[in-house]
Amino acid sequence: MKFQTPATTNPIDRLTVVGKPIHRIDGELKTTGRAVYAYEWHDPNMAYAYGYPVGSTIAKGRVRSIDTSAAKSAPGVLGIVTTFDVGPRKKGKYNTAPLFGGDRIQHYHQALAVVVAETFEQARAAAGLVTVDYAEAKGVFDLDAARGSAKKPATSAKPDTATGDFSAAFKAAAVTLDETYTTPDQSHAMMEPHASIAAWDGNDLTVWTSSQMIDWWRSDLAKMLAVKKDRIHLMSPFIGGGFGGKLFLRADAVLAAFAAKAVKRPVKVALPRPLMMNNTTHRPATIQRIRIGAQKDGTITAIGHESWSGDQKGGQLETAVNQTRLLYAGANRMTAMRLATLDLPEGNAMRAPGEAPGLMALEIAIDEMAEKLGMDPIEFRIINDTQVDPENPKRPFSHRNLVGCLKLGSERFGWKDRPKVGARRDGSVLVGYGVAAAFRDNLVFPSGARVKLDENGLVTVETDMTDIGTGSYTIIAQTAAEMMGVGMDKVAVQLGDSRFPVSAGSGGQFGANSATSGVYAACVKLREAVAAKLGFNSADAVFENGEVRSGNRAVPLAEAAGPQGLVGEDTMKWGDLAKTHQQSTFGAHFVEVGVDIATGETRIRRMLAVCAAGRILNPITARSQVIGAMTMGVGGALSEELVVDPRRGLFVNHDLAGYEVPVHADIPHQEVIFMDETDPMSSPMKAKGVGELGLCGVAAAIANAIHNATGVRVRHYPITLDKLIGSLPDVA
Ligand code: MOS
Repeated sequence: MKFQTPATTNPIDRLTVVGKPIHRIDGELKTTGRAVYAYEWHDPNMAYAYGYPVGSTIAKGRVRSIDTSAAKSAPGVLGIVTTFDVGPRKKGKYNTAPLFGGDRIQHYHQALAVVVAETFEQARAAAGLVTVDYAEAKGVFDLDAARGSAKKPATSAKPDTATGDFSAAFKAAAVTLDETYTTPDQSHAMMEPHASIAAWDGNDLTVWTSSQMIDWWRSDLAKMLAVKKDRIHLMSPFIGGGFGGKLFLRADAVLAAFAAKAVKRPVKVALPRPLMMNNTTHRPATIQRIRIGAQKDGTITAIGHESWSGDQKGGQLETAVNQTRLLYAGANRMTAMRLATLDLPEGNAMRAPGEAPGLMALEIAIDEMAEKLGMDPIEFRIINDTQVDPENPKRPFSHRNLVGCLKLGSERFGWKDRPKVGARRDGSVLVGYGVAAAFRDNLVFPSGARVKLDENGLVTVETDMTDIGTGSYTIIAQTAAEMMGVGMDKVAVQLGDSRFPVSAGSGGQFGANSATSGVYAACVKLREAVAAKLGFNSADAVFENGEVRSGNRAVPLAEAAGPQGLVGEDTMKWGDLAKTHQQSTFGAHFVEVGVDIATGETRIRRMLAVCAAGRILNPITARSQVIGAMTMGVGGALSEELVVDPRRGLFVNHDLAGYEVPVHADIPHQEVIFMDETDPMSSPMKAKGVGELGLCGVAAAIANAIHNATGVRVRHYPITLDKLIGSLPDVA
């Protein structure tokens, strides 16, 4: 099915199951420990061996030799595969740094060997005995120092945009702002590490892994191993978080596959936590210069946003200016992105790539502008709202209710009680409120599914879609139940298996809308098959209460399926609606903070998010996405930073002791409101993504609240005590 005209009324609009607050159907499996994650897969007929990776301890250069003699004779060791054994390999489509193979080192903790033993402990102990001789080369690791050499990348789409005459308008503006903001390298820090089990059967390989994108991984693994894609079977039914860190094939799967081949046994490899941050990808740091010019009444006349980020040679931009092209009106505009070559680990997507760090800067700048203008920051945002793409005014938004989010949030949060800057004390704590707009593009990807109906009236959905903790199982079941007119108890969902139709996968907040649309398309096919079998006209057949009706005939679905059963399979493809209309999601974040006047420690006191993201398929799973994202935003604002060692080229704090993410005690009160809306341009589901929107703008709302509390403006994340303490008022 191709979605190319706005959705009209369809069976989803009945909302008997879709849109209902249904608890996740995989919840019981997870809370009782019966959901089997990659590393836990257990087949009693398989004698698993354990692989432990050896990572490079230099960031750039060559491996001269690897001495494995001591490791080989260590207890329990079954085999060792080194980067020399494997040799240079074709890179996958999505990796800029090699995952394994060859003598070239492109980043710290790049995998150089995998030691396989009977037990995990034996493998780990033996891995410690491997010694590597390096020819170290000088690397470039400091983004700020490399900024001058940053270039306009040839490969990325649209690094620059310009509309009107930015320079002249900025010069002529009554009120101007020109500030530079920085965001650090960040780690996904998901709970489940990257982990894989590989088992060969002749030339056929099965891999249980933890992947957001089954088909991408399968293609890239085939390339790495130089085997045909159809010889590889990938399974990833449960995933303990990804945040973008599991979008692309990672070393664990590659090492497991080579190791299993070498020792002729199934091999398990999990990246140890201390190896994860440098071995895998991260969100790259940015330096962002923002210039805004406005008239005295607050109308923006000029807006400019430049961003610098770094990556491996041939890598990609962190697209931090994206939202600035779309969020606010203003006749004269410019954006530009430049990429420096750095020898740090590969930079890549992390939850809301582009917008998340972009809004960390832009939404402080907007707050600063409002302050300069003497305007309320909500009012300033509202008067600069736009219903069309400001760079291309002929292109409207499909649906945009940023203003509604700001107004409703203001009311619910009690914005009118916002203190004057630095003026509210609660004991030893300075209290402030902050607000920021949330914005994230709504992407759609082709997505396929197969839906089976059996003689018991059970509907089974099969798709290689993944559930990374987001609720995919549940919303897919809801979609199938609604389409086929059955209860949730009559639907089974099978995900994360490469034998199933290729789906959108989980990423870029495109998963929910794209994958349920694929299930919608497959259900349309199944409905047609049911109608055809019964001689009904599928256009007027009604699927309800476990039966299908047409005219005065009603047949139970079980009977319609018969002993052979019926199958519908299709892929949702997308027409031009995303080109003719800008499709985005919107929201507003409100935060109250308390900053300790003596220590500079910031505590979140309460948070509210108002989201406009089309139809909400399930308010429970969507809310969980948003409160999780808000929590991540608190980390981004206050604690998360991969600290670069500028001499050795590694992230120093490469574990969860040194890389600090918020815990429960850091998050006292969160509220989420969804605007009641649908977007018929987005899909037949009329839904959009929400999982990344919830993160976008949070950190800036916190930064703005800290300013409101203390009068201190911090433009460099994370906002740690040291950046505040020197500027706080003397303790009274
Ligand atoms: Mo997301 S960063 O595309 O998983």
